[in-house]
Amino acid sequence: MKTLVFALPGNEALAKSIATAIGADLGETVIRRFPDGETYVRVLSDVKNTKTIMVCTLANPDEKLLPLYFLSKTLKSLGAACTCLVAPYLAYMRQDKVFKPGEGVSSEYFAWLISGFADTLITIDPHLHRRHSMSEIYTIHCDVLHASPLISAYIREHVSNPLLIGPDSESEQWVSEVAKNANAPFIVLEKTRLGDKEVKVTVPQVEKFRNHTPVLVDDIISTARTMIETVNHLNAAKMIAPVCIGVHAVFAGSAYQDLMKSGAAKIVTCNTIPHESNRIDISQLIAANLL
Ligand code: R5P
Repeated sequence: MKTLVFALPGNEALAKSIATAIGADLGETVIRRFPDGETYVRVLSDVKNTKTIMVCTLANPDEKLLPLYFLSKTLKSLGAACTCLVAPYLAYMRQDKVFKPGEGVSSEYFAWLISGFADTLITIDPHLHRRHSMSEIYTIHCDVLHASPLISAYIREHVSNPLLIGPDSESEQWVSEVAKNANAPFIVLEKTRLGDKEVKVTVPQVEKFRNHTPVLVDDIISTARTMIETVNHLNAAKMIAPVCIGVHAVFAGSAYQDLMKSGAAKIVTCNTIPHESNRIDISQLIAANLL
């Protein structure tokens, strides 16, 4: 069956790399806003009996969801055999329980929305801390891919004598895997989140690692408070300036600049969300899953 890869606005580079890697053509669309702010979607390619892949990372999801929904519905109305959503960053995964009375579980509501219009989903390191599998909330087939081998390879190649540091106990399984493949020791911190932009981090005794390069590894860098707090502790302990590695470069507001100012030697992310810190390419990982 013929495959066409469609880029939602802002996802053109990744869509092109994926299409090239799997030997597919790019689909053509017009996606724009009407003067009143509503979304216009038109599909120019012939998609009848075609497998269609919609590439749309979901940082800032509220504004992306409707164009994606309209594209998926339009592709189906034009006879596409299936619509596969490639969302390297999947939003709303952190709202996975009722934290305060009166709240809902938005990760579920978001999952039901996506499951209502896409046939399958491919994503990278979704925030599955309290959930064990995507099937607990998504009713469509989901492929979860992991950036950890690519991060280990980056560390092996670019960081001398690394010490990996995970942000919290939940990250231990993941960080230990990255550390093992990077031939590096690791430690895991105790973290308490006090508010949207306030976290408290306890760094265990790091003095014995004074001649190591600390490498902070986290799945999401959002406000960057987790990393900044950790960098502050490492600075106070007179450690070598750390390398900060995140899978998903969410970087809310001035987070990126704040993290740079905190004394991080280098900030490195995967290109699951386009950002100037992207150094680790995940397009081949996705393409391999599509072949
Ligand atoms: C939380 O459990 C995640 O793994 C990250 O540690 C968190 O999302 C980082 O958020 P922030 O950059 O806002 O501290």
